[in-house]
Amino acid sequence: MSALTQSKAWQDLRAHFAANTGLSMRRLFDDDPGRFAQFSLRLDDLLLDYSKNLVTRETMSLLCALARDRGVEAWRDKMFSGAKINFTERRAVLHTALRAALDAKHVPVMVDGQDVLPGVRRVLDRMRVFTESVRSGAWRGYSGKPITDVVNIGIGGSYLGPLMVCRALHPYSDKVKLHFVSNVDGTDLLENLRGLDPQSTLFIVASKTFTTQETLMNARSARDWLLRSAGDAKHIARHFVALSTNAREVEAFGIDVANMFEFSDWVGGRYSLWSSIGLPIALAAGMDNFEELLRGGYEMDTHFRTAPLERNMPVILALLGIWYNNFHNVSTQALLPYDQTLEYFVSYFQQADMESNGKRVDREGVAVDYATGPVLWGGIGTNSQHAFFQLIHQGTQMVPADFIASAQGFHPLGEHHATLVSNFFAQTEALMRGKTEAEARNELQNSGMDAQAIEALLPHKVFVGNKPTNSILFEKLTPRTLGRLIALYEHKIFVQGIVWNINSYDQWGVELGKQLAGHIQAELRSGAEISAHDSSTNGLIHHYNALK
Ligand code: F6P
Repeated sequence: MSALTQSKAWQDLRAHFAANTGLSMRRLFDDDPGRFAQFSLRLDDLLLDYSKNLVTRETMSLLCALARDRGVEAWRDKMFSGAKINFTERRAVLHTALRAALDAKHVPVMVDGQDVLPGVRRVLDRMRVFTESVRSGAWRGYSGKPITDVVNIGIGGSYLGPLMVCRALHPYSDKVKLHFVSNVDGTDLLENLRGLDPQSTLFIVASKTFTTQETLMNARSARDWLLRSAGDAKHIARHFVALSTNAREVEAFGIDVANMFEFSDWVGGRYSLWSSIGLPIALAAGMDNFEELLRGGYEMDTHFRTAPLERNMPVILALLGIWYNNFHNVSTQALLPYDQTLEYFVSYFQQADMESNGKRVDREGVAVDYATGPVLWGGIGTNSQHAFFQLIHQGTQMVPADFIASAQGFHPLGEHHATLVSNFFAQTEALMRGKTEAEARNELQNSGMDAQAIEALLPHKVFVGNKPTNSILFEKLTPRTLGRLIALYEHKIFVQGIVWNINSYDQWGVELGKQLAGHIQAELRSGAEISAHDSSTNGLIHHYNALK
């Protein structure tokens, strides 16, 4: 047994779970009118209501005891201080320093004996100069035209981060139009380039390592596309910039390092939107809004660092996740933003959460004897209600879900926003309360249905309820609020990783497929007889060769 599952805090939770299997949320609400006040937290206008969970005061206090026992506070302080907690890559984990840099009074954050904050500030200054020049029209393409379209080429965090934020801040965006290319499937690049004018198109090649196959292949094809009309390779300088940690590879690609916005290896790919990887955000919404995003993240950092565990939003979200994952044996978690602009929020956190906490060995390299990261999925409301909510309401699996919405929409369009949020409130209430047999029967009787038909239909009309949800509600999705929201979930992932005693900041799991793809690509190129694989892989390659 692992130290975690052997610990008293864990065992106490197991005993508590066993003693409370019949917990009914309906009854908990009926018995305690103060439940909402007890189980909700606020950071200014940002409200986290976690009262619709299968928890009592005792559950929460046992969960907080677990966090304390696992050293969450000490690990948190280590992360913020620049300690190399990503030990398999020997790296600090300091996306938080990217947000702290705006605070002129912040204490130095040291990595290898050097304060990293001045370097972050320098890059922010360069980003401001560059983005203002593009947005004002001063930056010109090779023929003298101002930039109208920006194409970000990147994958994983170098794609999902800026894409998610650009979509979320679309109402704040003006001047240039953003496009995102990620997939090595040529369709992605070609469809994004369709209709663009090379003379007024700027490419951003976003890659932490600058060695990622998909990104470099797309970048090369984009360069060819540009040069087909620009002719001379000297024009690349007006049309290509790089966001990377790897100056050597950027230069080797042919991008002038003067057009490179750097960041450091202590920024994880899936946490990099706060670094120069956020350049597309600043191009679309302006540098002031990008800095507002950073300020929001910093505010959540401050809350996370200073609030006691019992009143700490990321900690509470993380512990509730652990309660379902490890004690209720639920292996899934849904994210349900009721906001069209948060269209990519789920995809973004799918990478952040699943790449961070999808681990099978603990920090000592020993296989864990407990579940780690859940399968994270979801979609935007109200669309999701008409797609997969049926399973959440009446299926056999429990799906803990986070609902997210703003009180004010961007567009005052009649009753649209009130309708949107009333669906949010109604869904969380329905998931919690369900509908009893007596209630369903009563409804059917009132509809005038005959007794026999009622009995046949009744079981299908019953909702068991008792389905857990968190509700996150804020005034408006400003850049600052978005920053808080993203940092909230980032720190949730951190806390869970600490409790599970795993390294949330490496991603060796994506390597094997990459290696094998490299071999197979060479085989496809050679045209030789393929027999080195298992019969399925050989068969697939033969079939491909016959069809291509
Ligand atoms: O797929 C693994 C990964 O390393 C992600 O963590 C990262 O976001 C993505 O690839 C892209 O990496 P890079 O920014 O180095 O191109």
